[in-house]
Amino acid sequence: MKYCARVILAAWVLQLAIVPVVYGAAAEATVRSPDGRMSVSLRVNGEGRPEYSVLRSGRTIIDWSRLGFILANAPKLERNFELARVEEKAIDETWEQPWGERRFVRNRCSEQRVTLREKTGAQRALTVIFRVFDDGVGFRYEFPEQPALAHVDIVEELTEFAVAEPATAWWIPGGEWNRYEYLYNRTPLTELGQAHTPMTLKTASGVHVAIHEAALVDYAGMWLRRVSGQRLKAVLSPSSSGASVRRQAPFATPWRTLQIADSAAGLYMSDLILNLNEPNKLGDVSWVKPFKYVGIWWGMHLGTHTWASGPKHGATTAETRRYIDFAAENGFRGVLVEGWNKGWDGDWFARGDEFSFTEAYPDFDIVALAAYAKKKGVRLIGHHETAGNIANYEKQLGPALDLYAKLGIDAVKTGYVADAGGVQALGDDGKIHFEWHDGQVQARHHLRVVEEAAKRHIAINAHEPIKDTGLRRTYPNWVSREGARGMEYNAWGDPPNPPEHEVNLVFTRMLAGPMDYTPGVLSLTGAGGKRIQSTVARQLALYVVLYSPIQMAADLPENYAKYPRPFQFIKDVPVDWSDTRVLNGEVGDYATIARKDRNSGDWYLGSITDEEPRTLRVSLSFLDEGKKYFATIYRDAMIAGENGVEIETRPVSRHDTLRLLLAAEGGQAIRISPQRASARPKKKKQPEFDVE
Ligand code: NOJ
Repeated sequence: MKYCARVILAAWVLQLAIVPVVYGAAAEATVRSPDGRMSVSLRVNGEGRPEYSVLRSGRTIIDWSRLGFILANAPKLERNFELARVEEKAIDETWEQPWGERRFVRNRCSEQRVTLREKTGAQRALTVIFRVFDDGVGFRYEFPEQPALAHVDIVEELTEFAVAEPATAWWIPGGEWNRYEYLYNRTPLTELGQAHTPMTLKTASGVHVAIHEAALVDYAGMWLRRVSGQRLKAVLSPSSSGASVRRQAPFATPWRTLQIADSAAGLYMSDLILNLNEPNKLGDVSWVKPFKYVGIWWGMHLGTHTWASGPKHGATTAETRRYIDFAAENGFRGVLVEGWNKGWDGDWFARGDEFSFTEAYPDFDIVALAAYAKKKGVRLIGHHETAGNIANYEKQLGPALDLYAKLGIDAVKTGYVADAGGVQALGDDGKIHFEWHDGQVQARHHLRVVEEAAKRHIAINAHEPIKDTGLRRTYPNWVSREGARGMEYNAWGDPPNPPEHEVNLVFTRMLAGPMDYTPGVLSLTGAGGKRIQSTVARQLALYVVLYSPIQMAADLPENYAKYPRPFQFIKDVPVDWSDTRVLNGEVGDYATIARKDRNSGDWYLGSITDEEPRTLRVSLSFLDEGKKYFATIYRDAMIAGENGVEIETRPVSRHDTLRLLLAAEGGQAIRISPQRASARPKKKKQPEFDVE
């Protein structure tokens, strides 16, 4: 459907209910979620300090926790308050995603705005807004326009999260050198140091909680530091300017979010982060296309090719033509080419100022290749590695994007390889300053790139990015990003990604949004011939399990030529879905997800495990009643198969329960298509062991 038609449909589905209720001054204000399960209270204690708590079904999830700020340019904003005004309204609307895990998203919550005012002195005001959903809470601060606080320099946000019940935490360290690219720790929450978000918790009573943020715009990213016991405090990513955040009032902070569910699956099914973001600001985004791509990439990570010029240069005209041909033959829309532009020679990590984003190496004819790709029905994907030097990149941003737009290139992978805290930005003083990948400067930078790209109808996929906080809703051309250890660690990582990592991602990093993980290495081989801890069926399952609207087939074309049958799944699997169901999962252990193709009646199912072999039972009750389907199953071979994968096609219906047999480090991928006469499989093999 064209986007304009979608907008009309979205307007038709919109049922906005706004019922404001205004109370006078009170010492405590409580608001409940629409079904009454969740409740959030705000109070000012004896010293006039604001605090909040969160209950779910009568059980305390977050005990009284502080709110407030320490400012560099004004007295602290954290005590001497009274509740000046409390307003409530109900929100219930359904909106349509231009692309995503599901087509329609319901945003149903109770909103409470609490205005706090200092009792004496300058009587400054601060508003706290809560949105309470049946599956969690978001809250943000609003700094109103007021003479006593026109400019706001925030050195500390005092927001706390006092987790009430003993909990296990899955987390990666925040404020360390390698941005977000760590293996996940699983520890008692009492052993946490400082962590990035999303951080996922499982409490002693089995409640799952994920702490994160939504709509990180012109503000510093939030880390979580344990201050005592299970009490966590927000820490704002630092800035070279001293204060982490510098803003002019009025403004609102990002939302602090708590997704709360009975199971890991419930966390993943929550749309709370997206719902807290502003609607699409770009208007008609029918030009943003979900797609699959191949690219001159894995060879560099294996060390058989180089980004740099010379005898092993990957991005040559001849090699790119080979990839374009391969993409055209196999139905991939995109061809990523890294190392095409000048600046990669020598130690590019350290010399980001040498990158040119408009000049190609002499052995890469960008104009001819873009034309050749077009002729073949394929598009080149642009690449802007900045080595974290955004001063150099921003100088060239306009002409660099213009060049791509002129050549019909409508998606760009950006990159910020630099140690955390090592982003080089131009300050107001005209000098270079070092900034964090998730600081306010970088939050601004990413949106500048996304907005400039949108003007030219270009989509952005950022690597070494700032974390995802759901901004794809507002800027649907921000299609994907990295922000965790990706497949490249299986080429050269020490250690590489253990199988548990991808399962951890599902219920941590992926709660934030799409990831360009770059799966599909069917050769199961990293640099120097090292075996990847995976199976072919698992590589296929990753396309379903780790969502992104753009997905790479990361392996070399010559490897795909060796495994045509499993490669068929990569060719078939869609990247845009009308529905998503998490069928089972435990953080770090296993996950099974089913998704429905947005453009057909097909369902796809992906299941992955950690280092343990598993048998998982999944009901197909999500299929339509009365319809017959064929399932093409790619499973870990019980006997030697095509690089360890066994493929069978069999009829199924919604009344079947499948038994998924996953090998250690393995997985299973299934395509389920409505039966058509022409689709009837020639040979039907029905082993007893996997359908009940
Ligand atoms: C790191 C990115 O994650 C990777 O995909 C890319 O190939 C290199 N940087 C070079 O830009």
